[in-house]
Amino acid sequence: MSVAYLVILAISLLLDSTSAGVPLPRYEALLKQQSAPEDPTLGLYDDGDKVVKLTVENFNSTVVDQNRGALVEFYNTYCGHCRRFAPTYKTVAEHLLPWSEVLIVAAIDCAAEENNAVCRNYEVMGYPTLRYLGPGFQPGPQHFGQNLKTQDVNEIRELLAGMVAAENLTSSHNNSYWPNVHYLTENDSASSLFEGLSSVKQYVAVVHEPENTTLGIEVALFMTQWPAVEVRRVIDPAASAKFKIDPANLPLSLVNRLGEIEAYAPEYANGESYAKKLAEVLGKKNITPRPIKVPQPVSTPSIKITGQNELIKEVQRNKHFVYQADLEQAIRTVLHNEVAKVSEISGEKLLALQRFLAVLQRYNPLGANGHQLVSKLKDYVVQFNEVLTGKEFEEELKRLEGQQSPVYSSTHFVGCAGSSPRLRGFSCSLWTLFHFMTVQAARNDDSQDPLEVLQAMHGYIKHFFGCTECSEHFQAMASRRKIWSVPNKEEAVLWLWAAHNEVNQRLAGDATDDPEFPKKQFPSPDSCSECYRSPGSKSENLEIEWNKDAVLGFLKNIHNPQFVSRYGVQREELLHPTADKMRQKRQISSVFTDIDMRMGMLLYAFCIVMMVLAFKLFAFKGYRKKPYGHDLLGKV
Ligand SMILES: Cc1cc2nc3c(=O)[nH]c(=O)nc-3n(C[C@H](O)[C@H](O)[C@H](O)COP(=O)(O)OP(=O)(O)OC[C@H]3O[C@@H](n4cnc5c(N)ncnc54)[C@H](O)[C@@H]3O)c2cc1C
Ligand SMILES: *[C@@H]1O[C@H](CO)[C@@H](O)[C@H](O)[C@H]1NC(C)=O
Ligand SMILES: *[C@@H]1O[C@H](CO)[C@@H](O)[C@H](O)[C@H]1NC(C)=O
Ligand SMILES: *[C@@H]1O[C@H](CO)[C@@H](O)[C@H](O)[C@H]1NC(C)=O
Ligand SMILES: *[C@@H]1O[C@H](CO)[C@@H](O)[C@H](O)[C@H]1NC(C)=O
Ligand SMILES: *[C@@H]1O[C@H](CO)[C@@H](O)[C@H](O)[C@H]1NC(C)=O
Repeated sequence: MSVAYLVILAISLLLDSTSAGVPLPRYEALLKQQSAPEDPTLGLYDDGDKVVKLTVENFNSTVVDQNRGALVEFYNTYCGHCRRFAPTYKTVAEHLLPWSEVLIVAAIDCAAEENNAVCRNYEVMGYPTLRYLGPGFQPGPQHFGQNLKTQDVNEIRELLAGMVAAENLTSSHNNSYWPNVHYLTENDSASSLFEGLSSVKQYVAVVHEPENTTLGIEVALFMTQWPAVEVRRVIDPAASAKFKIDPANLPLSLVNRLGEIEAYAPEYANGESYAKKLAEVLGKKNITPRPIKVPQPVSTPSIKITGQNELIKEVQRNKHFVYQADLEQAIRTVLHNEVAKVSEISGEKLLALQRFLAVLQRYNPLGANGHQLVSKLKDYVVQFNEVLTGKEFEEELKRLEGQQSPVYSSTHFVGCAGSSPRLRGFSCSLWTLFHFMTVQAARNDDSQDPLEVLQAMHGYIKHFFGCTECSEHFQAMASRRKIWSVPNKEEAVLWLWAAHNEVNQRLAGDATDDPEFPKKQFPSPDSCSECYRSPGSKSENLEIEWNKDAVLGFLKNIHNPQFVSRYGVQREELLHPTADKMRQKRQISSVFTDIDMRMGMLLYAFCIVMMVLAFKLFAFKGYRKKPYGHDLLGKV
């Protein structure tokens, strides 16, 4: 068997290096170029942002048991909602930069596999999740920081100020920048204010804090860079009066060590405006702030993806192709990242995982080693009926992968590669994988259950998909579109197609759209004109009138394993040989601009044309062109 395999391998290498006209070393060099993977450490934030980038390496040393607090965002790069929220979060970081001695604004990308353990240990259930970890914070059972359930800049600031005010600092976490949260009382006086204060403090700023607000703490936080000023807050009207405060008109005053008091009117009723007023007054007294120490982000190497343009151009030439590399990336990310980072898999979640693996086992696009891997993994997971931890799953996965290695024939997205590494990627490949599986189910008689794949998908999306907003939308859509009433396996293919088109329509023109791959109804008329009842024109309600039979045929065709493109795959020897090898040879070689190769290709094409003609003339007079001409014979 292995001899036969070697012969096939040798022949295929020979084909690679000679008949397609592509010198092997160049081919490898090209693939190497293209295989620059989407850097998982890239995340949504740059070094230019004020967001402190956390990883498994620096998480403990940056936000656990520190003498300052931290706001931590747990996000997934591929989650559209996280991408939409990223500019807001950058604004939060910029806005709260003056607080950084007391509280830093940080983020960790849970889509990066290396960070699995952190996201799992912190039991992150949705993305993005914002948590406040106070000074001296130590994770413990049921203790992973306080959730902030808002994505509004002002609300985030107010909640954080409230959390800072509520901290009870133990002596081991004293932080000289921490604001004094105690309210002034009627017993305080201009002279008693300075008792016990360091001699550096030349002024005490007194802020009237309207009831149920955090204004005073916010002013204190915005003033942390002014060593000469202590900020105190006051609510009590009698106490306010002692410091010349008139809450309505002059809500802010400055007291010096001589007991002199001056009250001021800031422009707006917010912490920044109060701090601005104070800065202006202090500036006139020649008091200056320290420069803000920007919390040091760990620098991430900036990567330049070469070969990516070539790849994108190639993909755009063949818009509707399904790529092996994407199917593999989807499976890899599902296993290594999404499932592995769940803390405890039990109940409905465990059932969903078992179902997903059973379906994946049946309609697995991986090669022989990958088949072994998935079926062993499934056998492992079905043994559990109570609880499986994400950690156990990850360990077993790594053990089996070691045993079955090599499993994956590629390491990067192809059809799902975005024009920037932050776009497309995993969610695109996940759609692709599920479409692929619905089609395999319809092509196969192993199971008569029409809902098999859709049910597995529904469970997966509900319990594991790290794009929380997508998951919620999908569940709502599934019940609205009556997913549980799909009558047969072909309708299941069409159900998913129509559901995906609904999402495409909703997201068209969204901020997360890749400009190189705008969201359109699928398939486009260029790819399948037969799929449209009346090409170009739409019915009165502007709905496209689809020819569903043609759509079904088209979907079955593009997901036919024989036609799944192996463009950009590095280790094709791991895959089952396909009868359609010649077609994808053409695709690989079309990347090269080499004149020799073009001549070769021309000859090659010519031969095929001749063969087809000969075939038509002498053998199959009645031969009809395939309706979906995306294979070579169809096109020539
Ligand atoms: C279940 C699910 C729900 C999602 N919900 C949301 C959401 O609510 N909000 C949000 O911002 N993002 C959501 N996403 C992500 C979003 O749908 C895209 O995956 C993401 O924006 C990347 O888009 P893309 O351009 O790469 O193409 P994708 O839409 O991901 O499509 C991937 C590929 O599938 C093919 N394709 C496209 N349409 C169809 C179709 N109808 N039938 C068959 N094949 C098709 C195309 O070749 C395309 O390149 C969801 C993803 C999934 C898997
Ligand atoms: C971080 O701390 C937790 C416990 O608080 C520990 O389990 C984990 O291993 C630490 N991570 C690293 C990378 O040191
Ligand atoms: C603050 O902590 C100390 C000891 O750690 C405790 O005695 C005190 O009651 C706490 N105060 C509040 C308001 O929680
Ligand atoms: C405050 O912290 C410093 C070290 O930063 C320490 O030397 C000092 O003893 C601490 N103060 C108290 C009251 O614990
Ligand atoms: C002010 O001081 C008096 C007497 O010392 C005391 O009884 C009262 O409780 C104090 N008021 C406040 C608000 O602390
Ligand atoms: C402040 O909050 C308390 C409790 O929520 C409420 O009873 C009170 O009316 C609020 N005061 C103002 C001025 O909103």
